[in-house]
Amino acid sequence: MAASAEKLIIFDTTLRDGEQSPGASMTKDEKIRIARQLERLKVDIIEAGFAASSQGDFEAIRAIAGIIKDSTVCSLSRANDRDIARAAEALAAAPRKRIHTFIATSALHMEKKLRMTPDQVHEQARLAVRFARQFTDDVEFSPEDGSRSDMDFLCRVIESVIKEGASTINFADTVGYGVPELYGQMIRSLRERIPNSDKAVWSVHCHNDLGMAVANSLAGVMIGGARQVECTINGLGERAGNTALEEIVMAVRTRRDHFNLDIGVDASQIVPTSKLVSQITGFAVQPNKSVVGANAFAHASGIHQDGILKARDTYEIMRAEDVGWTANKIVLGKLSGRNAFKQRLEELGIKLESESEVNAAFGRFKELADRKSDIFDEDIMALVSDEQQSH
Ligand code: KIV
Ligand code: ZN
Repeated sequence: MAASAEKLIIFDTTLRDGEQSPGASMTKDEKIRIARQLERLKVDIIEAGFAASSQGDFEAIRAIAGIIKDSTVCSLSRANDRDIARAAEALAAAPRKRIHTFIATSALHMEKKLRMTPDQVHEQARLAVRFARQFTDDVEFSPEDGSRSDMDFLCRVIESVIKEGASTINFADTVGYGVPELYGQMIRSLRERIPNSDKAVWSVHCHNDLGMAVANSLAGVMIGGARQVECTINGLGERAGNTALEEIVMAVRTRRDHFNLDIGVDASQIVPTSKLVSQITGFAVQPNKSVVGANAFAHASGIHQDGILKARDTYEIMRAEDVGWTANKIVLGKLSGRNAFKQRLEELGIKLESESEVNAAFGRFKELADRKSDIFDEDIMALVSDEQQSH
């Protein structure tokens, strides 16, 4: 019998890291609409923005904190008192609030970007977490560029911030440099080496520069023991984007035999949320995108269509309706077989008199499909009425 399942926390950062996609900025009202939908989706945490980054973001977080009841609302802040106080002010009305503070820990970022010594960064991280704890018990700390940071230094910093009360440690693969085994092993090794590591929940935050954000996140969970995944709807995010929420949720659900983890998300809200985010940001979802792409449940090959009509799990590992699509899609075209054609006639309420009539209509359909790549229901209706008129 499988061991009882632990929970995998879903931390959505569509409204913060997702908004960092060039061209994806959102108004306060748009952010509120998305936050309400994320609550319907039942994500555990909504990172609503970065309060100190602009007055607009501050107002949006404040409004979301006053509306959202079921999810924790979070604001990002750099590791300084001003940012943290601003985050706390924006979050004041939230029934459950989190302050997420970060500072870069890689030698490259510390020297070239922050122009700080490792000792200064260590001290700033420690004091930031201590200050944030004055406003809430729920404080997350991220070592930015963690996956390119020195392990000994990470151990020092993380041990200190946990002592100061950080309850989540978010190991950031800021530039998408990680590869699954190494990223997972880094987290595992940090958890083994840091004496108080079990006092915090470990989290993954991956970018998709090499197309491995989802794989890295799952390796962080399986190899590293992380129990929170930071992700965005449609994988929106800085540069090539972040880990896609819909892929994480459906991978863990579909392969529960392997992951044995529970997720609180209501999967039937995935497609509506994807559509809303796409419509608001103007970022189209590519048709072949996993789970939420228009073709994710479409079957064009005749062999596949025939299989699906006989038993859906021949070519479907998930149900389209479980993630919020209204139905799976048999796309009729030149590769379609007679069974799929006949099924569509039935769905359209068309009853032909005899099998020879079906055969004749199917012949006409094949001729048309050679000339036209997608055959719509209107085409079929026209084609059958031609067929009926010829009698
Ligand atoms: O990618 C990153 O490092 C971030 C941090 C702020 C967590 O988004
Ligand atoms: Zn990020």
